Amino acid sequence: MQYISGFGNECTSEDPRCPGSLPKGKNNPQVCPYNLYAEQLSGSAFTCPRSTNKRSWLYRILPSVSHKPFESVDQGHITHNWDEVDPDPNQLRWKSFEIPKASQKTVDFVSGLHTLCGAGDIRSNNGLAVHIFLCNSSMENKCFYNSDGDFLIVPQKGKLLIYTEFGKMCVQPNEICVIQRGMRFSVDVFEETRGYILEVYGVHFELPDLGPIGANGLASPRDFLIPVAWYEDRQVPSGYTVINKYQGKLFAAKQAVSPFNVVAWHGNYTPYKYNLENFMVINSVAFDHADPSIFTVLTAKSLRLGVAIADFVIFPPRWGVAEKTFRPPYYHRNCMSEFMGLIKGYYEAKEGGFLPGGGSLHSAMTPHGPDADCYEKASKAKLAPERIADGTMAFMFESSLSLAVTKWGLKTSCCLDENYYKCWEPLKSHFTPNSRNPTGPN
Ligand SMILES: [Fe+2]
Repeated sequence: MQYISGFGNECTSEDPRCPGSLPKGKNNPQVCPYNLYAEQLSGSAFTCPRSTNKRSWLYRILPSVSHKPFESVDQGHITHNWDEVDPDPNQLRWKSFEIPKASQKTVDFVSGLHTLCGAGDIRSNNGLAVHIFLCNSSMENKCFYNSDGDFLIVPQKGKLLIYTEFGKMCVQPNEICVIQRGMRFSVDVFEETRGYILEVYGVHFELPDLGPIGANGLASPRDFLIPVAWYEDRQVPSGYTVINKYQGKLFAAKQAVSPFNVVAWHGNYTPYKYNLENFMVINSVAFDHADPSIFTVLTAKSLRLGVAIADFVIFPPRWGVAEKTFRPPYYHRNCMSEFMGLIKGYYEAKEGGFLPGGGSLHSAMTPHGPDADCYEKASKAKLAPERIADGTMAFMFESSLSLAVTKWGLKTSCCLDENYYKCWEPLKSHFTPNSRNPTGPN
């Protein structure tokens, strides 16, 4: 599989079977090379400043408009109704979400989408949703595009072969990909497959600013990979189905050909993928903690300075060397909402109960932190340099919006861990009013 590298770059790509398919010197010639149609895909308002202006030109066998009318179809478990159930400020944790068995029911990527939580408003382009995908079959003569926002896809079990209008991407667990608003894609899977999706409405993901860190560090722009042009000139007599998520509802339209008929493209509005192993981790090398924002891979900014609609944050393998410090995450209450998932391994602050393919939600101002066992161990541990989180990858979708959990999340999924609160129950007072330093010099 071939890729172009570089986050947000202006790229050009031609399927090698049609050399010279990209028009030279203009976007929209009277007749395109190879008699292709030109079509622009706009990812930003025409008038956005140059730094945020996104669009690509696609040169295709037939334009996207060649389809029958869209009709409403079954929603499955996708929702943007944030009032399905009453709000719940408790710490929530889900066991690994169950993947349907292929022998019992065929479920593809789209029919396997389940909305877990979210907030905001699709029509005003402000908000987000967290979805879980649970599937066992490839999409057959079927593609999907989202009119509402961008999908940041985090596969947890099983690789995804994703066909897009821009070319093909293979995305393995411990890699992520972003399919931006309007881009048509189809997902092949090879086993019972599970993962997480962060959907943001009306904004695109960016690399975070680095401030005093300087020009390098965290996710490097060159490690983001973009597919290269690939087309199929394939008629589908029985009809190819285009599924559209529009204002939170699903619609389907039939067309006679594969939508992956783009022979060449150029622009800066593309899908892309990133391997989390490439993240350059920054951490305290003296004492105390930096805030977890040092682990931000991508951010979808709101209009308020420094406040994100959503950040995608990871907790990769790294060294822990801080001296005179309680090294696990601190106890805290946060004005932001924190959804966490686990791709593999275990999470240092809770070694049991938070499992790969599960999740947790700590809502705005809801207290949380290490479980009692973690506190007891870490407050007594000898502070030698040590590897942390080897073989694991936990991540967080952190949002400035206050998230509502769906009925599927709280009830239908049957995965909510009713005993989560108990992990903090054994926390006991260690207060020694008559002795300031009973255990050490800290
Ligand atoms: Fe937190």
